[in-house]
Formats: sequence, structure tokens, C-alpha cells
Amino acid sequence: MAAVSAAAPYVARDRDLHNRALVRGWLYVVLLVLFALVVVGGATRLTESGLSITEWQPIHGIIPPLNDAEWQEEFQRYQQIPQYTELNKGMSIEAFKSIFWWEWAHRLLARSVGLVFALPLLVFWGSRRIERGLGPKLVGILLLGGLQGAIGWWMVASGLVDRVSVSQYRLATHLTLAALIFTATMVVARGLAPHSEPAADRSTQRLAGFIVFLALVQIYLGGLVAGLDAGLSYNTWPLMDGKIIPGDLLILEPAWRNFFESPKTVQFIHRLGAYTVFAVALWHMIATRRRLPGSTHARRATLLFVLVLVQASIGVGTLLMQVPLHMALTHQAFALIVLGFAAAHWRGTKGAYPLPTRPPMKRRYILFGLLAAAIVYFAVELPRYV
Ligand code: HEM
Repeated sequence: MAAVSAAAPYVARDRDLHNRALVRGWLYVVLLVLFALVVVGGATRLTESGLSITEWQPIHGIIPPLNDAEWQEEFQRYQQIPQYTELNKGMSIEAFKSIFWWEWAHRLLARSVGLVFALPLLVFWGSRRIERGLGPKLVGILLLGGLQGAIGWWMVASGLVDRVSVSQYRLATHLTLAALIFTATMVVARGLAPHSEPAADRSTQRLAGFIVFLALVQIYLGGLVAGLDAGLSYNTWPLMDGKIIPGDLLILEPAWRNFFESPKTVQFIHRLGAYTVFAVALWHMIATRRRLPGSTHARRATLLFVLVLVQASIGVGTLLMQVPLHMALTHQAFALIVLGFAAAHWRGTKGAYPLPTRPPMKRRYILFGLLAAAIVYFAVELPRYV
């Protein structure tokens, strides 16, 4: 009588660890490209280049004008929008080319990050290197990336009629979603890293996670400051308009509008946000050093506090110097460093993802991936042809 044995339980092997290292390395490359993308996006905004390309052509738009006639055509399109007629009338084609190249580079990097993410994802999936549970997280990040492209265009569209610059609501949303994608990629990458120390206690984990949340809120508020050019007034610190709490913070009706539309209130709230991040990071550092003395978690909490301190100092410098390009760009880039480190630290306090207990998913799932990519492609390109 033949014995029917139950399937042997799946045991994680060296191959799983090797796959994790590969996937992690790829996600670090994605993080680098994302970082460059955000910095070039900041430069695009600060050089007021963001409205120079007035169409959305996700795939076709990769080719810039190649001859004089095409440059003239592109320039003529720009001459139709209020930013040209009200602010830049008489701009030379050479000046137009320089703003064009910033926006083009930003869009090119955005497309590149899409490829750097999607192609290896398909290859890793096809070669069964994506462990169970990881696929939905990675596809989720991919979808957020697609959404970000659409939000980028939604933001640009707000500056093409009636206004000479984009809506601060949309700018802040675009920046915050970029920050969210960066955070999610970092969290997944660090979850795949080997961790030499056990996870921290729940309250340390929660506080570390709360700092990530606060950093994201602070970035949203920074986006509002930038979108309203609110850093060009009240260039004193610690006082604002001669007081710790300036007057006329609720001058617009209804009151909620002040928090998004009044440069004074928005700048004040961004200051308050910074003080909050600072205080919570300080508290977290002290508490972690007491609770887990000598641990990696305590060292990271300390470094996180130092990074927040540096970022707040750069913010004050940006304000006092009335927002010169190099300071504003450093302030934006460093915000991403603080956020990225906070996210890595938070993931670190939770320990690595448990090793897989089941083999990776079957190859047929790659078919769904390809199908989804084809649908996205047609969704974004089809309107060009109809
Ligand atoms: C943890 C602390 C802080 C974080 C994470 C942070 C983050 C940001 C971000 C992401 C932006 C948008 C940058 C852009 O899109 O160009 C911004 C803008 C700005 N922040 Fe902060 N900030 C912090 C603290 C401060 C402080 C303490 C000040 C001054 C008191 C400050 C002053 C400014 C100013 C003036 C801008 C506008 C710069 C521009 O127009 O480009 N920030 N901040």
C-alpha cells in the first residue's frame, strides 16, 4: 500500500535570501532615481519652468523639438498661456529653451523611474524572485506612480488657463504623493534587509511611525508654502511680523481657507509643523535611548533627531535669505533625506519581514502584470489618436 505523504512544509533557503538581496538592491536604485526626480522637480518649480510644455503625451512626449520649426511650434504653444502673456511677454526663444529643458528633464526622469520600476518587477516576477505577499505591495507602488503622473498633469493643467502659476493645492498634493511613494519604496526595501537586532517594543515602533507621518504632513505644508511663494514675506525668525504668534491669521472667510490660501497663515503653520517634528523627534530620541540603551534603534533615533535639526536650520536659512534657489533646493532635498531615514528607522524598529513559508507565486501571474501594463499604456496613449 503506497503511503500518501502530505506535502513537506516550505523551508526558506539561501535562494530566498539571495532573491531578497536582489530585490532590495533594485529598490535602492529606484530610490536614487526618485530622489533625482524630486530634486529636478524642485528645480523646475524654482526656475518657473513647469508650464513650458503645455501638453501631456506620456509616451510620445519623450522626443523634444529637433529643429527650428519644431522649437517655434512648441514656443507658440507656450505663448498662448497666461504665464507668457502676463509675465514673460517678449521672452526670447533661447530663454524658452532653458525653461523647456528643465520640465523635459523632469518628465524624462519620471518616465525613467516608471521603467526602472516596472521592467525589473516583471523580470523578477517572471523568474519567481518575488516572494509571496510582496507582489501586492510592489504593484501598489507602481499604481501610485501612475497616479502621480496623472496628478502631475492635473497640476500643470491648473496653470494653463486663468492663472500664471499652478494651484498650490495641486503642487502640494504632487509633492506629498512623491514623498509617499519614496516612503513606501524605502519601507519595502528595508523590510527585506537582514536585521541584526530584535524588533523594538511597540511604543518605540509607534512613535517612530508617527514621526514618518509628521514628516509627510510637514512636506505637504512645505508644498503649500512653496506654491504660494509664502517664503518671500515675513523673512524673520523666531518672530514673525514682530510676534511669536502673528496677528491676522484668520483674515479670509471661511476660516479654513486661511490654512491653504493665506501666505501668512500657511508659513506660520509650516513653522509650527517644524517645531512639532522637532519636539517629537527629541522625545523619541530620549525615550529610545532610555528604553534600549546602546541599541541600533537608539543610535538611529539620535541620528534622526540630528537630521531634523539640520533640516529645520536649513529651513530658517532659506527664509532669512529670502528663498535663493540653492537654499530652497537643499531644503527640499533634505526633507526627502529626513523622511527616507525616518521611514528606514521605523521599518527597522519592526524587524525584517518574516522569511517566506510558501514558495513564490506561479508564473502565470506575470500574464496579469503584462495585461495591466498594456491597459495602462492604452489608457494614457489612446486619447491622442481619437
Ligand atoms: C522638519 C522640518 C521641515 C521640513 C521637513 C520642511 C519641508 C519643506 C518642504 C518639503 C518644502 C517644499 C519645498 C519645495 O517644494 O520647493 C518646504 C518649503 C519651505 N520651508 Fe520648510 N521644512 C521644515 C522646516 C522649516 C522651517 C523651520 C522653516 C523656517 C522657519 C522653513 C521654511 C520654509 C520655506 C521658506 C519654504 C519655501 C521655500 C520655497 O519657496 O521653495 N521650513 N519645507
